[in-house]
Amino acid sequence: MRGIFITGTDTAVGKTTVGIQVAEILRESGQRVRVRKPVETGCEKRTKIDVLEPSDAVRLQAAAGAVDALEIVCPYRYEPPVSAEWAARLTNRPLELGDLHAACLKGVSDDDFLLIEGAGGFYSPIARGALNADLAAGMGLPVLLVVADRLGAVNQTLLAIEAIHMRGLALLGVVLNQVAEPDNPFLDNHADLQRWLLAPVIHQAYNSHPDLKLAPWVRNWIREA
Ligand SMILES: Nc1ncnc2c1ncn2[C@@H]1O[C@H](COP(=O)(O)OP(=O)(O)O)[C@@H](O)[C@H]1O
Ligand SMILES: [Mg+2]
Repeated sequence: MRGIFITGTDTAVGKTTVGIQVAEILRESGQRVRVRKPVETGCEKRTKIDVLEPSDAVRLQAAAGAVDALEIVCPYRYEPPVSAEWAARLTNRPLELGDLHAACLKGVSDDDFLLIEGAGGFYSPIARGALNADLAAGMGLPVLLVVADRLGAVNQTLLAIEAIHMRGLALLGVVLNQVAEPDNPFLDNHADLQRWLLAPVIHQAYNSHPDLKLAPWVRNWIREA
């Protein structure tokens, strides 16, 4: 099956932001994109009937052209802003890795391009006794690692990549994402990371959209996938 698993070195590094861009580029390239954010925490109650709105999933769904209902994109939603494993435990109905695996595959056919966003970082707990890494390994898709471009990024990236390789997964590349306005003129994480890695490192500038570097890179994967 063709697809990617989008993970991060941490939460709030830009997984959804990058995922939306990748989904749009894939669509523009003629792919039918199925996005899955199988579990989302920190959801807000938007209506009086207690429906939880998964904001990442809503935006990913739109970026993919709304080919799937929101219930398919994100079937497991929780209000507390904690790890998915913990949020599920608070409801007294533990979430199993198999539930998430099934949710990722539901409605997906061989012609589709599956784009999955995990929850938190690569080693964040996502289901009972399971990490994002376990879901990624179960899906067997190549991994796109998103990293916040700030001091410490080299350490976090190299640690995450070692973990990705330990699960036997292919690393598509790293998106070094400028989540805040650059404030350190001495920092060049892009040059530093490229020195350590064979995989491509794409720098995503602050508030850049659409991203010019991401598009040719994504089109290249499609050709190779
Ligand atoms: N390149 C960027 N420029 C400006 N803001 C960004 C950029 N990437 C992410 N952000 C912002 O950072 C926050 C976290 O991004 P998000 O994509 O939600 O991260 P994650 O999915 O990893 O939790 C959001 O408010 C998002 O709008
Ligand atoms: Mg997100």
